[in-house]
Amino acid sequence: MSVKVDSWGSRVGLILAMAGNAVGLGNFLRFPVQAVQNGGGAFIIPYLICFLVMGIPLLFIEWSSGRFGGKFGNHSTPYILDSMVKGRILKYIGVFGIFTNIAVAAYYCYIESWTMSYVYHTIRGTFDGMSQAEVAGFFNSYTDIAHSTTGLPYEAVIFYVICLLLNTYILSKGIGGIEKVAKVGMPLLILFGVVLAVRGLTLGTSGASDIFPDANAWDGLNFLWTPQYESILDLKVWMAAAGQIFFTLSVGMGTIHCYAAYIDSKDDIALNAVSAGFMNEFVEVVLGSLIVIPIAAGYLGLDWVLQNAGFGMAFQTMPYLFQQWGPALAVIAGVCWFGLLFFAGITSSLAMGTPWMGFMRDEFGWSKNKGAWSFGAMILILGLPTVIFYKEGVFDEYDYWAGTVSLVVFAMLETILFSWIFGMDKGWREITSGADIKVPNIYKFIIKYITPVMLIIIFLGSLFKPLDNKWSENVVSLASGSGWTLDNGSIIKTVMHAGIRDQIALATDPVLIEQLQDKIMYLNFARLLLIGLFVFISLLVYIAFLKRRREGRATL
Ligand code: ALA
Repeated sequence: MSVKVDSWGSRVGLILAMAGNAVGLGNFLRFPVQAVQNGGGAFIIPYLICFLVMGIPLLFIEWSSGRFGGKFGNHSTPYILDSMVKGRILKYIGVFGIFTNIAVAAYYCYIESWTMSYVYHTIRGTFDGMSQAEVAGFFNSYTDIAHSTTGLPYEAVIFYVICLLLNTYILSKGIGGIEKVAKVGMPLLILFGVVLAVRGLTLGTSGASDIFPDANAWDGLNFLWTPQYESILDLKVWMAAAGQIFFTLSVGMGTIHCYAAYIDSKDDIALNAVSAGFMNEFVEVVLGSLIVIPIAAGYLGLDWVLQNAGFGMAFQTMPYLFQQWGPALAVIAGVCWFGLLFFAGITSSLAMGTPWMGFMRDEFGWSKNKGAWSFGAMILILGLPTVIFYKEGVFDEYDYWAGTVSLVVFAMLETILFSWIFGMDKGWREITSGADIKVPNIYKFIIKYITPVMLIIIFLGSLFKPLDNKWSENVVSLASGSGWTLDNGSIIKTVMHAGIRDQIALATDPVLIEQLQDKIMYLNFARLLLIGLFVFISLLVYIAFLKRRREGRATL
């Protein structure tokens, strides 16, 4: 049975949309920060190895699973997995492929809305003449909804709603709408990126000042690009590298499956997968490393960057740095930077809407309009707490469970299913059928053995991360019967809020204690919402199963 309800207009459109799905805020905001926090050049080797032995294999797995499911009219992971392997339970593993997208989109669209607002403020001249502290203060005020003094009351909420309306409207046009946005957004993004990267490359020491006499953009680049081989033994760096690869390639999410389900069953996926993957890596490794870090190091010095590298740097620091280029260039640079982030964001958030829409259409016959607007409504309900309680940690809680842990869990499960239950021989036929390149045979071995083993190690490593990352000491301690001491950052201790509880135990100030207790309450509220979403989607999958069974379409 083949039910083609929608399809890609052209190969270029498909590759740009897939690359747009991958190229996102993660390339420009997350990658430089991860690289700096994990030792710069020390990060790059594990990162590239993770790309080759986990990223590329997962791209092959997801593109081929998606195209396979699409042959049977399935466009979301619950029934894509079901069409590959018969088993009552497997479609519930596929719930991750809808859940993660909705949960990630809820907070991701919030960052996307910052980029829209920052384009507006750049053009309006809000940052003109502001000191570095004032620019940072603007961001803090903007995200502190109740006390914001940035201009419009509830400005963050207003831009968030505008951003959701825009996403929803484009999604309601279906795959064609997404393809159009990718065809415009991706070239513009690369153009903006190149303009800023040239500045990063040519700044040198010209940004040094009395306060930062040693500022030098080249220090930033050297720090990122001088390989340090000893990091190969540091498991923490591997975890961070693998996490970045998942997030940046959008693997373990379910979006790639969905996009690939709209490909004709005879069309190539091998070359497409590799092209989109490498395009993402070019944007991340080349453009992503040539903007924030060198420009910040060029004005503020590498030491400042090492101490302050964080996600907010893009919003708290860049507008101030652009001011140093004079009024006209500051506006151009600001529009290029926040415009680039906006296109990076929207081409990814649009992808996150498609698994839900595909599922509701396949199972319940929902139109594109109904699918898109219901997606927008869900994001609004789930996302508003990340906007309103941003300072209380709701945003980070979503990012941890949906944007980090879920990706690894789903990637691990789908890889085991693909290689070992669907079977590597069948899997290899799927990957290579219609291929426009010769896929190296070594990948058959990697996908079957290396990728699942690495994913299992990463999952178990995150679950049982030992105190201060002291792996060897803990192995010896376990062997000698003295037990294993978990780190507060391990998944198990995070579930129990161990870090915050330790802070409460040490605190003496009653106000601080109350704040920390409130924080636990907000985080539990965020978890409740996420669990509620997972249960809701599982229930829909179950109802869809009953419906299929009534119609004689259920497999089990
Ligand atoms: N892959 C997307 C990003 O990097 C989610 O932001």
